[in-house]
Amino acid sequence: MSEYISPSSGASGQAAATAVAHNARVWNYWLGGKNYYPVDQQVGDHVLGMFPTIAEVARADRAFLSRAVTYLTGRVGIRQFLDIGTGLPTVDNTHEVAQRIAPESRIVYVDNDPTVLVHARALLTSSPEGATDYIDADAHDPETILRGAARTLDFDRPVAVMMLGILNFVLETDKAKSIVEQVMAAVPSGSYLVLTHPTFEVGGEGGAEMMRFWNENATPPITGRDSSQIADFFEGLELVEPGIVPCSRWRPEQSADESENEVAEFGVVGRKP
Ligand SMILES: C[S@@+](CC[C@H](N)C(=O)[O-])C[C@H]1O[C@@H](n2cnc3c(N)ncnc32)[C@H](O)[C@@H]1O
Repeated sequence: MSEYISPSSGASGQAAATAVAHNARVWNYWLGGKNYYPVDQQVGDHVLGMFPTIAEVARADRAFLSRAVTYLTGRVGIRQFLDIGTGLPTVDNTHEVAQRIAPESRIVYVDNDPTVLVHARALLTSSPEGATDYIDADAHDPETILRGAARTLDFDRPVAVMMLGILNFVLETDKAKSIVEQVMAAVPSGSYLVLTHPTFEVGGEGGAEMMRFWNENATPPITGRDSSQIADFFEGLELVEPGIVPCSRWRPEQSADESENEVAEFGVVGRKP
């Protein structure tokens, strides 16, 4: 388990950070990473007990990220990514997937978790031909995000806006929709929205109970949404086939076992016409 100091400074900042489980660190624990505190492991294990497929959800989400970025870079020709709710660095971060195909790709990462900020250096390892940047900002504040991203991204050229596992932390659906609208209004035709979002429609009864436990014991609070609410986020965009599906079912690789599993998290890609 790694040790780190909260950039919010001092012993009290660190004490606060270690007292409550944070999503970025628990997600890292489920993905098999090393950047979490004992409290994150305890909550992560409890959730695993309640909802044993949660680690599979996290892995399927990352595999979806990789397939979606590969599709957008390789098939569509996208060279700019705005990745909001980045998470702690892990294998196959967005810039690594994109720059393997197109080294000139430019990627801006955004998260508001102090632990992600501490580890952001690992996201700033761009190829010389491309660029990466990191913005410490809250998804509820798209204006700040867009202003910061404009230092690296050209908003006259298409951008893939990545919102993977982030709108579920914007509890009011109207607010979540307005964030999507504000960001997608800033990018030109030919841009894309890439989304993953937990749902109770898949994965059985345990999802709602698991989220209740999370909201009482961890931060930030989370919500699931159904497919009609997800469809609403894509209003005015063209859904890329196969549309709104569990993220493990979005263009799975032929031989992958995951193509047979449904996880309780939708994965969707849409194009701005
Ligand atoms: C479930 S993780 C997903 C990480 C990554 N996008 C992925 O798909 O693997 C959600 C991330 O969103 C971040 N996050 C949560 N609420 C946020 C907010 N209001 N603003 C910015 N980031 C937020 C968390 O810190 C965490 O890193």
